[in-house]
Amino acid sequence: MYKIKYIGDPILRKKSADVDTFDDKFNTFLEEMTEIMYREDGIGLAAPQIGVSKNVVILDVGELVEDESLRIFINPKILSASGSSVIEEGCLSIPGVREEVTRPEIIELEFQDETGASYTHEFDGWLARVLQHEIDHLNGILFVDHISPVKRQLLINKKTIPEKY
Ligand code: CO
Repeated sequence: MYKIKYIGDPILRKKSADVDTFDDKFNTFLEEMTEIMYREDGIGLAAPQIGVSKNVVILDVGELVEDESLRIFINPKILSASGSSVIEEGCLSIPGVREEVTRPEIIELEFQDETGASYTHEFDGWLARVLQHEIDHLNGILFVDHISPVKRQLLINKKTIPEKY
């Protein structure tokens, strides 16, 4: 019943709200969100991408990092960031586009798990990269906002992304 929202859909520009109820209904939502991520072959998914403006991020970088599997981040907040790395990104909401994006390499993150328990933890490498991409979604930001205006205009000219997005 949830479907992937694509670039141009206004919901991708909305700021999401914190989750404050960790009940069975919320857990069912997390299960459905997880199914969609795996079905769509994504390594990360933010709730707004399936039309739900809540601060929920899931990811699984198992195909890139050994011993990694599903991770769930509720109400994630980046406390600090350092370093810099350039990595090519893609997004389930922007099919057919892959572009290099520069972001901090290490982040300190405050978040809750699916039961509501709170954590503060440092992440680097692929986890830090995917987390920053997905947390951007919670703030209505898309990775193509981070590329150069010239590259972005080329994508619009080729109609790979809509003029108004
Ligand atoms: Co994305």
